Amino acid sequence: MAQVIYSQDSDDVISPDIDTEIFAKDVMAGLSAKQKYIPASYHYDAEGSRLFNKITELPEYYLTRCEADALKRNKDRIADLLTDGTANLIELGPADGSKTGALMDYFHELKLDFHYVAVDISHTALEQLANHYQSVFPDQSVDCLVANYVTDLKWLKKRYHQKNLVLFLGSSIGNFNAAQTKAFLQNLRQNLKSGDMVMIGFDLAKEPELIRQAYNDSENVTAEFNYNVLRRINRELDADFDVTGFRFEGIYDTDDNVMRSYLISLKEQEVYVGALERSFGFLIGESIHTEDSRKYRESDIEELAVNNGFAVDCHLYDSRRYFVDSIWEVF
Ligand code: AVJ
Repeated sequence: MAQVIYSQDSDDVISPDIDTEIFAKDVMAGLSAKQKYIPASYHYDAEGSRLFNKITELPEYYLTRCEADALKRNKDRIADLLTDGTANLIELGPADGSKTGALMDYFHELKLDFHYVAVDISHTALEQLANHYQSVFPDQSVDCLVANYVTDLKWLKKRYHQKNLVLFLGSSIGNFNAAQTKAFLQNLRQNLKSGDMVMIGFDLAKEPELIRQAYNDSENVTAEFNYNVLRRINRELDADFDVTGFRFEGIYDTDDNVMRSYLISLKEQEVYVGALERSFGFLIGESIHTEDSRKYRESDIEELAVNNGFAVDCHLYDSRRYFVDSIWEVF
């Protein structure tokens, strides 16, 4: 019963995963800026998603394992939310569905009755996920909803009127800057109703060396994940990035608790982007900022909740307290 649907009800035409024109515009803005940048959301084409899955299995990348541990240790606590009248379990950015899959196995053991909604911008990813859920959970009602949840959450209010529990796992929120975080949380709040719940994954601030290693892994998978963005621009925007002309580095900013990812030019070079009909110059050592991965203190998380219309219900930790899934109630 897994079906792919669209946030725009009338939209029965299959839309592309990303609009090349918007990609071109974003690359134009990013490579023209004084500090060059590429929005982190462009990491996730098919190859980027494959590389990200590989990252989650690296010994240094503790985030995914810690969150899986936090969810497993606290599965009864989460199940309690579903026995408390929650009808819809709505997940923003389910990735390969494995984290929530483990929870759902348990909920099915308990014979809990709920409707699951997986929301992603990628139609292709959701098609795969729908097939996956169809085979592992044939009796579970599932919607796979194609939407850009960063800008579009109206479908929440329009479609899901019963009590909702919205999941935003993996510390994906850490990619947003302060203004984007606020905009996202306020939009989420406005499209939910009093009594609805959210559960958001946050990577906690910790010993900087552990964080550095998580993003500068010994197998260079994270570097590949970043090079892939340049390859994607080559492919989709007809550019001529020489990937070997850049090195990757993740630099941890201990003042702001942010891991900042960069591709750094190893030489003076020019890159031509066909779709923009223009080139961009790089000096030796000049960088492209490719991602921010924010780390949080408990007090940061509590502030985010109360400043945006939520009340913290509880914090679910892994055994080492590296990561937290924070449960909030809408009030
Ligand atoms: C999926 C955004 C949570 O920031 O840790 C992993 C992406 N980047 N390694 C993160 C990522 C480099 C990841 N998030």
